[in-house]
Amino acid sequence: MSKENILITGGAGFIGSELIRQLIKDQSKHVVNLDKLTYAGNLENLKSVEDKSNYTFAKGDICNNELLIELFEKYEITKVIHLAAESHVDRSISDPLLFVKTNLLGTASLLNAAKNYWDGNYENKLFYHISTDEVYGSLKMGKELFTESTSYDPRSPYSASKAGSDHLVRAFYHTYNFPVVISNCSNNYGPYQFPEKLIPLCINNIIKRKPLPIYGEGENIRDWLFVVDHAKAILTVLNKGQLGETYNIGGLNEWSNLDLVRVICKIMDEKLKRPVGDAEKSITFVKDRAGHDLRYAIDASKIKNELGWSPKYQFEEGISLTIDWYLNNQTWLSNVSSGDYQSYYKKQYG
Ligand code: NAD
Ligand code: TYD
Repeated sequence: MSKENILITGGAGFIGSELIRQLIKDQSKHVVNLDKLTYAGNLENLKSVEDKSNYTFAKGDICNNELLIELFEKYEITKVIHLAAESHVDRSISDPLLFVKTNLLGTASLLNAAKNYWDGNYENKLFYHISTDEVYGSLKMGKELFTESTSYDPRSPYSASKAGSDHLVRAFYHTYNFPVVISNCSNNYGPYQFPEKLIPLCINNIIKRKPLPIYGEGENIRDWLFVVDHAKAILTVLNKGQLGETYNIGGLNEWSNLDLVRVICKIMDEKLKRPVGDAEKSITFVKDRAGHDLRYAIDASKIKNELGWSPKYQFEEGISLTIDWYLNNQTWLSNVSSGDYQSYYKKQYG
């Protein structure tokens, strides 16, 4: 039986690498991972799959049209799962054009390459776009949740560039009958997340006894999902999602930033055998993020009712596994913090 060739973009990042680790177990699939290896891409995340016969890595940019055509033709790609993006809100505030280029122009290039290669023959083809709940804007405190019909209201250069990419994907569906599906997920946490995002940043800083910066008063709320559950949701949508549909994915797990960091402090004091209350002393309130969205929270009932997915990990288990992973992988942490991993792979891939 010939394998199904799936192009995954951004597979060397946090979520993409978890997705590849799960997907590669299916011998009927051949995964081609296209990644530019920006600061967020790290092939160490994929050590466990790099020698598998159904895995191929290609270093490159999703904005490179010639490379895209070459990859579609060489590997006879029938499905795309598109994760490559600039993903950090704070970086989007300091460099918005990079986010427009990668997230908007990059998605347009990828859509166009797939459309040209598939050339109207859309049977068994799929373009699956991975997006974020941040496109819906910011919720007030309370019980309201983002549903798939919530109007888009992005408020950071990151979320605006992701919203634009979602619109392009839907425009291809409506204009060309191009086969798409989109999912919008809440904040992920788990192993291999770059320590610029809140959870790994705090874990890293607690290990190193550095300050734990909380923006504003720490009252902002996020809905946290374990990355293993997100990857399982992506595989569910890949296999069962309906063309043209959007699925919201979330953890039903809202935390204010301050409460979340306090929980991490408590667990880490226990795991590191430090005195009770030790880590919390390092919490430091700093200047708020510009335009800081107050609250995100997802209604994930559509994917549960229609496709049968719901998160398997309770937060207590997921966060404990995550902290253990960082404690056991401090070389990974110091390599990504120092930038060493990039010089190593530069030698291999240029
Ligand atoms: P990440 O920043 O960890 O990884 C992004 C990957 O994309 C990296 O490997 C990077 O090298 C690659 N990349 C960046 N620009 C590229 C380009 N021009 N060409 C090719 N590759 C490029 O991101 P992540 O947290 O794994 O997020 C993956 C996707 O999921 C993104 O689209 C993001 O918007 C979305 N998402 C993330 C979260 C979250 O909490 N992390 C939540 C919802 C949705
Ligand atoms: P982050 O992990 O950057 O994800 P996002 O901005 O996509 O939600 O931030 C999560 C929350 O934590 C967000 O409300 C901003 C806040 N935050 C801090 O308070 N301090 C920090 O150092 C960082 C990185 C984030």
